Amino acid sequence: MEPWQRAFLHPCVAHRGWSGGAPENTMAAFRLAISEPAVHWLELDVHLSKDDVPVVIHDSTLNRTTNDKGRVRDRTARELSRVDAGSWFHPVYAGEPVPALEQVLALAAGRCRLNIELKEDGPDKDRLARNVTQLIRRYCLERDVVITSFDPALIAAAKKHLPVVETGLIVDKRSARLMDKLRSLGASNLSIEYRSVNASLLKEAEAAGIRIMAWTVNDRRDLSRLVAMPQPFQICTNYPDRWLAAVQEGAGSRA
Ligand code: G3P
Ligand code: CA
Repeated sequence: MEPWQRAFLHPCVAHRGWSGGAPENTMAAFRLAISEPAVHWLELDVHLSKDDVPVVIHDSTLNRTTNDKGRVRDRTARELSRVDAGSWFHPVYAGEPVPALEQVLALAAGRCRLNIELKEDGPDKDRLARNVTQLIRRYCLERDVVITSFDPALIAAAKKHLPVVETGLIVDKRSARLMDKLRSLGASNLSIEYRSVNASLLKEAEAAGIRIMAWTVNDRRDLSRLVAMPQPFQICTNYPDRWLAAVQEGAGSRA
């Protein structure tokens, strides 16, 4: 296969931005990802702030990825724009804030598509889905995003508020009647841990009209193996540079 065919069959999704090169889920990581012309997708995680603004952070607390502590839901978006979500990764990123989803939409519009993962363990699932879909509408990105979640209730809520939006269920592994479950949710995408991606799953998904994203593929050998597969699926990685190297492997050799 030619490199362009591998890239076409297995588009790169920059996981939490280019999170191997800059602090995850920050504008620095998203900017770095879109600085690579071959990257056409960003993945990001969204929670609600205290004032119900969708903000971009993986965990429900600030503890792991900022210089602060406590629940994201207990801070306003303005307060979150002042925490330091960069220093833990490298001092050069000191002062990188927790971004609002709106900032990422503005950055990506017209350049890159988004896989927006909704995260909400509490009672505010509907509110999160409503506020995220309102923003997507405001930026006219209905056709440029996929809303994903481990939680079927969040997918159903997103579909309720924005029926045209594509949605996807995230799972760790394959299970019985998975395609039926997706169909009943109206979901057209399945994000699945990459070790579960094989020819049999891809065949089943293709027959059901489901697109697959394999997460999170960081090891170079795994990337090489996956980009050589003939069936189409997205590859979510912290390292778009490794994805690109895997895609270009053998370039010129006609192997
Ligand atoms: O979207 C797939 C992947 O991001 C799910 O896992 O924990 O990185 O959000 P996590
Ligand atoms: Ca995620």
